[in-house]
Amino acid sequence: MAERLSGKRIFLTGAAQGIGLAIAEACLAEGAKLFLVDQDGTLLDKTVASLAAPKGHVGHATADISDGAVITAAVARATAELGPINALINNAGMNVFSTPLEATEEEWNRNFEVNVKGAWNCSKAVLPGILAHGGGAILNIASTHSFTIIPHTFPYPVAKHALLGLTKSLALEYAGQGVRVNALAPGYVETQKAIDYWNGFPDPAVARATTMALHPGGRIASASEIALAAVFMISDECPFMNAATLVVDGGLSQLQHPA
Ligand SMILES: NC(=O)c1ccc[n+]([C@@H]2O[C@H](COP(=O)([O-])OP(=O)(O)OC[C@H]3O[C@@H](n4cnc5c(N)ncnc54)[C@H](O)[C@@H]3O)[C@@H](O)[C@H]2O)c1
Repeated sequence: MAERLSGKRIFLTGAAQGIGLAIAEACLAEGAKLFLVDQDGTLLDKTVASLAAPKGHVGHATADISDGAVITAAVARATAELGPINALINNAGMNVFSTPLEATEEEWNRNFEVNVKGAWNCSKAVLPGILAHGGGAILNIASTHSFTIIPHTFPYPVAKHALLGLTKSLALEYAGQGVRVNALAPGYVETQKAIDYWNGFPDPAVARATTMALHPGGRIASASEIALAAVFMISDECPFMNAATLVVDGGLSQLQHPA
């Protein structure tokens, strides 16, 4: 069977671990070339060394997505190493969990710098090349926090709601020029970020079990299950999907209340 991402040159952020790493592995298995960025350069180096990739299929750079100039330089390097970038996956994100009255201005700013402006920076850096070469796809990793609220996670969901606004704005702006911009909204996924969240409770094991029990299927997603959806959305298998949000949460967001 033909590789589903053959000819795709993907700029992928937050690739050192978690969902980003799973997406990198899944995209490589489908024949894509990848340029991986993460702010954690030490971990990214280790991750890149561990990837089973044909020679010349993976480039990487340490970069903080909140810094527009750094991202512009990383995209230029990616283009020089791999050829014109025709797909972007905005995966890097961070949890900033507080309450509206306790969150500091610094937390508010960093939350938006990374979770919203970071995706805009990367989009702005890849779009001229995508437009010049006949089109491509952008996928933003949103969250079920993009349309529902868990108290005490403020202001993270405010930024994830805004990421859907960015998705739709870019999607409608460039729809006539061969560009598709969509969002993928995972629910709970077993990554370090989820483990850190459970570790914030007095009994992390109880917190973990409570999260599992919330789900209609009694479990949360693995990162590789999210990556399967990402491969589909960045591939040419859904050419008329634009400005859409695909929810991958095991049905949790449709549950009226726990049984
Ligand atoms: N894990 C979940 O339950 C879950 C659920 C829904 C959505 N998400 C979203 O999925 C994405 C990935 O989450 P994850 O769970 O894999 O997280 P993770 O913390 O396991 O990995 C995120 C990676 O992004 C990198 N990163 C963070 N800020 C960065 C920045 N400013 N510049 C460059 N790199 C940066 C980190 O160094 C890390 O390697 C995030 O956008 C997150 O909001 C996660």
